[in-house]
Amino acid sequence: MSANREQFSSKLGFILAAAGSAVGIGNLVGFPVNAAKNGGGAFLLVYALFVLLVCLPVMVAEMAMGRKTQKEPVGAYKALNNGGTGWNLAGLLGVLTPFMIAVFYMVITVWIFGYIAITLGGGLDYLATPQAFGEFINSPYIFGAMVVVAAIINFILVAGVKNGIEKAAKTLMPTLFIMLVLMVVFVLTRDNAFAGVAFFVIPDFSKITPSVVNGALSQAFFSLSLGMGILITYGSYISKKADIVGSAKLVAITDTAVAFTAGLMILPAVFSFNPQVNPQELSDSSVSLIFTFLPKIFLALQSSIGYVAASGIAVFFFMLVFFAAITSLVSIIEVPVSYLVTEKNHTRKKALFILMMTAGVLTLFATVSFGMVGFFTEFTSYAGGTRSFFDVVYDVFYDTILPLNGLLLCVFVSYRWKKHRLSEELSVGNDNYQGSFAEKYINFSLGTFIPVILLGIFLNTVAVKFF
Ligand code: PHE
Repeated sequence: MSANREQFSSKLGFILAAAGSAVGIGNLVGFPVNAAKNGGGAFLLVYALFVLLVCLPVMVAEMAMGRKTQKEPVGAYKALNNGGTGWNLAGLLGVLTPFMIAVFYMVITVWIFGYIAITLGGGLDYLATPQAFGEFINSPYIFGAMVVVAAIINFILVAGVKNGIEKAAKTLMPTLFIMLVLMVVFVLTRDNAFAGVAFFVIPDFSKITPSVVNGALSQAFFSLSLGMGILITYGSYISKKADIVGSAKLVAITDTAVAFTAGLMILPAVFSFNPQVNPQELSDSSVSLIFTFLPKIFLALQSSIGYVAASGIAVFFFMLVFFAAITSLVSIIEVPVSYLVTEKNHTRKKALFILMMTAGVLTLFATVSFGMVGFFTEFTSYAGGTRSFFDVVYDVFYDTILPLNGLLLCVFVSYRWKKHRLSEELSVGNDNYQGSFAEKYINFSLGTFIPVILLGIFLNTVAVKFF
């Protein structure tokens, strides 16, 4: 199987695909809001340090496991565990987590698609009304949008690694960069825009509390697509000639640069809409920012550029987010696809069919858990509140299991696979790796403080979320 495993055609193809995975809704919306609320430049600094000191070593370790074994998480843990079974659970979590995160991410992507369609149909003024979001996500149109999004993902993934994933990334990522820059330029020409820039970049160190630090790390971890088995799987498609550490650096830089640039789009837009806005009051979630606040900002543009142009800007923005979301979804669904193909010997087509059906049903449950179906809306309750099916998937897999997966990976790589084997794999394609500072840092950090930090986040989340 592994002898004819498909590969990315070049290092650039791999970097764009991995960056396509990393750049998502988290970068475009989550990051700017988080940064603005939590100390601006001070948050940026903490975030950048986490990317460099904590996330990069984990990213490198994931890619190395994939390339070494030529397998997805289940196969990779098995292969590197020399026939032992004690780590199989970590591998299984590495496939189950992306599958479940795909479910909640899919729901949001479907909403974005719906917003594009409604705006194109002339409905921007409707979307700017307070009840629109709630009405739309509980309307039958949502099911149509779901079918279209699933078809797009299927279309990309069925074509395989080189002709599907890589090709999509090579088209969508540069398009996304250009669109983002154009949006920034447009937004910065609006009145009062620079008050937003100031708010985003001027540091306020008094805001840096333990929970902000925790939030910055979770944001960075999620944003770089760690703990979801994605980089193990994509790593299994990189050639033995590629330098993993160098590639990982480029992916991390791209992801962080996009997140930063998105801040230069979102905050100036918010401030030009309302110079009195206090970012502290900005909605708590990215979801309400995208779906209720931003449509109001777009509609307000009609007084200066007219309704049609304002709608055009809105469509442009939602498309930008949509492209980012699609390349992330593709990467996350590729993990279970690869599992079914590599471990269960299904054809790619059949694997995709199985996944589209199972993930489709769960996505349906999550979609109707915003009021349409009582059973899923009031699915369970914990920590003193009723939780929907969507909440549960989000709380369990995104918030809790993600750092746990990272923790397991660090311990496995350092103490089971062993550091010298990691070093060996990382020097393939990079003759100067052994003995370098990077090697010493990666080996030291993965075996010591990174798992400790991830354990802290995991325990803290469990305590805060569920008790
Ligand atoms: N990095 C993505 C983001 O910031 C997270 C993600 C990756 C989500 C892959 C789903 C799949 O939005």
